[in-house]
Order: sequence, then structure tokens, then C-alpha cells
Amino acid sequence: MADVLLEARDLRAGYVPEVDIVRGCDLDVAEGDLVSVIGPNGAGKSTLIKSLFGLVPVRGGTVRFKDEDVTGAPTHRLVAAGIGYVPQTENVFPTLTVEENLEMGAYLRPRILEDRYEELFEWFPILAERRKQRAGTMSGGQRQLVALARALMLQPSLLLLDEPSAGLSPANVDVIFERIQLINSKGVAILMVEQNARRALAMSDRGYVLEMGQNRFTGPGKELLNDPKVIDLYLGGRASGGAQSA
Ligand SMILES: Nc1ncnc2c1ncn2[C@@H]1O[C@H](COP(=O)(O)OP(=O)(O)OP(=O)(O)O)[C@@H](O)[C@H]1O
Ligand SMILES: [Mg+2]
Repeated sequence: MADVLLEARDLRAGYVPEVDIVRGCDLDVAEGDLVSVIGPNGAGKSTLIKSLFGLVPVRGGTVRFKDEDVTGAPTHRLVAAGIGYVPQTENVFPTLTVEENLEMGAYLRPRILEDRYEELFEWFPILAERRKQRAGTMSGGQRQLVALARALMLQPSLLLLDEPSAGLSPANVDVIFERIQLINSKGVAILMVEQNARRALAMSDRGYVLEMGQNRFTGPGKELLNDPKVIDLYLGGRASGGAQSA
């Protein structure tokens, strides 16, 4: 098995005092792995991701990243350690151009800008064509690419993605998943929350089903995809062929 990159144990986190939303989660991401978290609305998926990025207070448990204890560490320290994050909503600066959005992603190390532009424009050619366009005038799919590229500016070893395919047309969903697999193939580990559970599990080394802030099922993505209980409870039943219940 590859080296462990991120390891959360009995993680507890929440917004309001004494109300835990994440209620004792365990999570492992190995170097270079693609890992998905699925589960019903309100299960705490976004809260889990945010707590791993210092955006929601951690109340208990431990988080280790690259063999260091980062439990409750502030966001800037996690970014410096090599974690990138793309939020579920409002993940670009709409009035800034593509280039300026990417620049914001490199604020800690402005000198790397030109090198990073080069690689990221190679991974996302459409952004090279549109580097002077304001992000707010782009399609949902293109904005999601801007958000991905911004989060990759500091060459993270782990990328946290919250519902990268949400609200996109089927064609754009294909584009985003294909780009995510490309990023992963370059060695960037990915932990993503997805509503598009079948697609996400099918491409994942590991999957987690979260329910009410706790691990419900865990296993290799393809195993979960074929587990009758997971199918019945979370994948819209056996005959659905990928359709998702709301
Ligand atoms: N900023 C906040 N302040 C207080 N409670 C919040 C906040 N954000 C989310 N919650 C609560 O935390 C719980 C879990 O929300 P979360 O957004 O983590 O779920 P989710 O699994 O990401 O759901 P979805 O699939 O709808 O994105 C919900 O009960 C929600 O009301
Ligand atoms: Mg969410």
C-alpha cells in the first residue's frame, strides 16, 4: 500500500458550540490516491472537508498530514503544507480575470507564477485561451476549471474538492471528471465529495459513505459500487443505471 498522506481519526467538528456535525469520522488518503466521500444531503460532507482545511473548528480526534499532527491547524499552515481546496459554491472571484484568479491562488509564493501558468494552461488549454476573461462571464464548467487551476497553483499534494460536478451540464460533468483524473494521474491525491456517487466511486481508489456525521460504509470504490446495501441506500437502487435521487 502507498504511504499514508492524510489520516483522520475520530474527527469531531461543528459550527455551533456543543453541536457536532462531524461525529467521529475516520478517513485515510494514501499518496496519489483518489478518494470519494458520498452520502445524503446534510450528512456533513462539506463540514468534514472544511474541518480538514481549518474552516470549521475541530473539537476532537486527530488529523495527520505527511506524518505531522495538523489537528485544528489554521488554513494558511495547511496550504503551506500542501493542501488545496475548492469549495462547493462561490469558488472563483467573478470580477477578476482567469489570470488574476490564478494569481490569487499563488499569493504565498508570487515568484512561481509564470512556471505555474505554463503547466496549468497545459492541463486546462481553454483557460489559456481565456486568460484575460473575467471569471464571472464564463460558463459553469469553465468556472469550475478556473477554481481547480487556482487550487493547484501552489502544487498541493492533496486537493480537497467539494462537489466539483454540481450544477454542471452532462457534457461539462464529463469534462470535469476527466480533468480530475488527469490531475490525479500527475500524482496529486484527491479527496472529493460528490453527489454523482456512481461516477465518483467508479473512479475512486477508496470511498466513504457518510451518514449523520459518521462513517457508514468504507472500501475500495468499486467494492462500494457493487455492495447491495450501498446500492439500495445511496445509489438509487439496483435498476437505476446511474440516476440519482434528489
Ligand atoms: N455555516 C453553518 N453554520 C451552522 N450549521 C451549518 C453550517 N453549514 C452547515 N451546517 C449544518 O451542518 C449540517 C451538515 O451540513 P453539510 O453542508 O456539511 O452537509 P453536506 O453533506 O455537505 O450536504 P449537501 O449534500 O447538501 O452539500 C447540516 O445540518 C447543516 O444545516
Ligand atoms: Mg455539501
